[in-house]
Amino acid sequence: MSLKNRIVRALNRHVLPRHRLVLRKSGHEAENGLLTPSLRERMFSDIAAIAGPWLDSVLGSEMAMPASALPGAVADFAELHERRPVRDNSGGMGFNGSLWLYLFARALRPELIVESGTWQGHSAWLMAEAAPEAELITFDIEHDNLLTRHPRVDYRLGDWAGHQVVARARSMVFFDDHISHTRRLREAAKRGFRHCLFDDNVPANGVFLTGDPPLPTLAMLHDPQMRPGMRIDWRYREREFHYVASEDDWTSAALIEAYRPVPPLRPASPYREHLGLAYVRLRG
Ligand SMILES: C[S@@+](CC[C@H](N)C(=O)[O-])C[C@H]1O[C@@H](n2cnc3c(N)ncnc32)[C@H](O)[C@@H]1O
Repeated sequence: MSLKNRIVRALNRHVLPRHRLVLRKSGHEAENGLLTPSLRERMFSDIAAIAGPWLDSVLGSEMAMPASALPGAVADFAELHERRPVRDNSGGMGFNGSLWLYLFARALRPELIVESGTWQGHSAWLMAEAAPEAELITFDIEHDNLLTRHPRVDYRLGDWAGHQVVARARSMVFFDDHISHTRRLREAAKRGFRHCLFDDNVPANGVFLTGDPPLPTLAMLHDPQMRPGMRIDWRYREREFHYVASEDDWTSAALIEAYRPVPPLRPASPYREHLGLAYVRLRG
């Protein structure tokens, strides 16, 4: 990151939010974009052509939005994203990841959304905008990085394991906290959630792509070459780590009714591909 962008980031994080101000970083990918209306419309319909079949495959009859409304929903997202209060969400979701989260929340139209991993508050703000009827609770073990608070979001400090949260008929939970996917699967099932989104779903050979990967990930559980007892070693930022797959973790796979990683959005969307967002429907 350049010195200029570092200064902008520090000001945005520590000083300007107190005055409800943000500085834009011109080099940030989401600050740049297409202006030509015909090309924007083509981009929205190309993205909708990828997102539609995926949403249909995960939500089926529970989809609260007709396929014909999808290009409009993508356009709404692009307009909303321009107005996002967290201008630089480094360490969290960028354009494409945010787009998936927005479309999923809008297509499901849940009454309750729970998020684990608030960070600067971007994804909670986005889901609150995507699902105006939903109650939204977001958890984080620290609030030092929180830059924005949406009036409809309940910001709770601590791991959700220490709080009483129970799913309703139409609920979703989004895990973006780098905690083991199998631990989160068990907790979500215990609380009655069926629709779950998991971030950082790195494959076994991609554990070095993010700090503190949520091991084992869903991708690893679905990898036919992975099995209990197997060990993975890797290096991240000059430190070495290892993970050994446990029998307990592998039994959690039985909780899963459907597993659908989001498909790549390129070339329809020219923005950076989001790393590892995946949907799980838990058995009822
Ligand atoms: C990748 S960031 C979340 C990004 C955010 N969802 C976004 O895109 O706007 C991960 C966050 O998870 C939080 N975290 C770590 N352990 C946690 C836990 N046990 N429960 C909840 N949050 C946790 C970290 O403090 C960090 O803020």
